[in-house]
Amino acid sequence: MADAAWKRVAAEAEVREGEPVVVEVGTDKILLVRIKGTIHAVNHECPHYQEKLEKGVLFGTEIVCKSHFARIDVTTGRVLSPPAYNDLPVYPVKIENGEVWLGASENPKFPKPPANLGSDPRLFVIVGAGAAGNAAAEFLRRGGFAGRIVMLTPEPDRPYDRPNLSKDFITGKAGEDWLPLHGSKFYPAQGIELMTGRRVVSLDPKKKTVGIEGGESLSFDKLLIATGGVPRRLPVPGADGAGCHLLRSAADAKAIVASAAAAKSAVVIGAGFIGLEMAGSLREKGLDVTIVAPEPVPLAHVFGDRIGAYMKSLLEGKGVTLLLGRTPKEIGGPAGAKTVTLSDGTTVKAGFVVIGLGILPAVDWLSGTGLVEDGAVPVDEQMRTRAADVFAAGDLAAVPDTEWGRRRVEHWIVAQRQGARAAAVMLGRDPGVPEVDVFWTKFAGASLKSVGSTRGHDQVVYRGSVEEGKFLAGFYRRGKLTGAATLAMPQDLVAIERLLRLGVPPRPEQIQDAGFDLVKAARAV
Ligand SMILES: Cc1cc2nc3c(=O)[nH]c(=O)nc-3n(C[C@H](O)[C@H](O)[C@H](O)COP(=O)(O)OP(=O)(O)OC[C@H]3O[C@@H](n4cnc5c(N)ncnc54)[C@H](O)[C@@H]3O)c2cc1C
Ligand code: FES
Repeated sequence: MADAAWKRVAAEAEVREGEPVVVEVGTDKILLVRIKGTIHAVNHECPHYQEKLEKGVLFGTEIVCKSHFARIDVTTGRVLSPPAYNDLPVYPVKIENGEVWLGASENPKFPKPPANLGSDPRLFVIVGAGAAGNAAAEFLRRGGFAGRIVMLTPEPDRPYDRPNLSKDFITGKAGEDWLPLHGSKFYPAQGIELMTGRRVVSLDPKKKTVGIEGGESLSFDKLLIATGGVPRRLPVPGADGAGCHLLRSAADAKAIVASAAAAKSAVVIGAGFIGLEMAGSLREKGLDVTIVAPEPVPLAHVFGDRIGAYMKSLLEGKGVTLLLGRTPKEIGGPAGAKTVTLSDGTTVKAGFVVIGLGILPAVDWLSGTGLVEDGAVPVDEQMRTRAADVFAAGDLAAVPDTEWGRRRVEHWIVAQRQGARAAAVMLGRDPGVPEVDVFWTKFAGASLKSVGSTRGHDQVVYRGSVEEGKFLAGFYRRGKLTGAATLAMPQDLVAIERLLRLGVPPRPEQIQDAGFDLVKAARAV
C-alpha cells in the first residue's frame, strides 16, 4: 500500500483498552477499539440498519449492536450473529511515534465462497427463503460448505426484509428497492441457487426427496424446512372481501400501500405487534386509523398491563383510535367504503381493513411425513427433526423449553439465528449454547425490545419509569428471570441477553438498583 494511503487519526493514548473511539477519515467514520493492547479499526455503522456501533456493548472482541443485537467481531469485521448480513470494512492500523495511522479499508461485504466450490458432491435443499432459510444459506457458505445449496420459495422476490413491511415500507420511508436483503448478484456469486416461483408440495423423508408444484422433484442430502407461517384468517362474513388485507408477504404489503394511497381511513383488526405497527404506520401516513381487538390492554399478555397501557397511550397520542374489548362480527361494503360491525353493535367505516391475527405454521406440505405435531415441527436443540438429515427452523419450529416443554417463537432474529444454527449442525459443527430469543417492535416513535421469554411471568421489576418511556423491566417466573424488555435502555438489555445466555441472570434487586452496572456484570462472566 502506498504511504499516501495512510492517514493519522488519533494519538495512541486516546484509545484506551475496551473503550471504542470514533474517528473520521474523509466522510468515513471509523471505530477504533483497543483489545489486549492492540488497536483494531472497523467502520462504525452496523451493517443491519446502520446503527452507530459505538453505542453498542463490547464483550472481548465482539461488539453487540444496541438496536437489534447483531454481534460483530471488531478484529475481523465478520458478522457472528444476525440480524446483520454483511461484514464490516476493516482498516489496517499502524502505530508510529505514539500516533495511530489507518490504511485503506479492506474486507469484502461477504466472504468469498470457498475456492473449491463444487468439490463437495452433496446437495443441501432449503425450503423457504425467509429469515431462517436465507440465514441458513448464508451461514452454510460462511461455514465453508462447498456443495450445492438450493433454496426454494413460491414468491417472485429474492429474500427481503419482512419486518419492514409493517413499518417504513408502509409509511413510504423505505421503498421497494430497500426491501431485498442482498443485491441481485449476491446469490449467484455465492453459488446459492435461489429458485423463486417454486412451491414445495411434498416431502418424502425416507427417500430424501421434495416434490415441487408442477411435478418436478429434488433429491437432497440434507434438508432445512423453513416455510414460516401463513396469516390466520378472520372467521366472520365479509373478511375475505375486496379491501380486506392480510399481511405476510411483500405482495400483501404492496396491496396495502395501494389501498392506503386511495383512502383516508383504515380499520386494523388485531392489537398484536403487526396490528399496532400497521396502525402506527398508517397513521404516520396521515390516515384516520381505528384498531379493533378483544383484549382490554394491548400486549398485556406479553409484557403486563403497565407496559401495554403505556404503549397504547403512545398510539392514542398519535391520534389512533383503539376500540378494545370487542370483536368484529361482519365486514361489508366494497373496497374503498368498508363497514365493520362490532360485537357491541357499533359500526366503523373505513376505506380498507387490515387483519392482523397472528400466524399458523406453514406445514400443510408436510402432511403424512410424521414430522408435524400440534401444528408445528418439533426439533431438538440442534434444530433436527425426527427424520435423519431433515432440520427445521423459524416460525414453524417448536424448540425444547425447560419451562414449557416446547416453545415456538415468531420473531425475525430468532428465525435467523435458528437458521444459522441449523447450518452449523448441517456442517457437522457444534452450534454452541442456544441463543436467547430477541425481539423488537417499533411504532408511534418507540422501539420496544425484549430478550428471553416474558410470557407467563409472576413478577415484574423495573428500573427507570415506564410512564416516562425509559425503563428496563425484568420478568420473573417462580423467582427465575425468564426475560426482560426495554424502551430506551438498550445497553442494559444487551447485558441481560448475555447474562441469560450464560446462565447467570440478575436478581430482582439488581435490576431495580440503577446503580448496579449490568454491563459490567455481563463483562465479568
Ligand atoms: C409484517 C411483519 C412484520 C414483522 N415485524 C417483526 C418485528 O418487528 N420483529 C420481529 O422479531 N419479527 C417480526 N416479524 C416476524 C418475522 O418476520 C418472522 O418471525 C420471520 O420472518 C420468520 O421467519 P421464517 O423464516 O420462519 O419465515 P418467513 O420469513 O415467513 O419465510 C418463509 C419462507 O417460506 C416460503 N414458503 C412458504 N411456503 C412454502 C412452500 N410450500 N414451498 C416453498 N417455500 C415456501 C415463503 O415464501 C418464505 O420465503 C414480522 C412479520 C411480519 C409479517
Ligand atoms: S442496526 Fe444493528 S442490529 Fe439492527
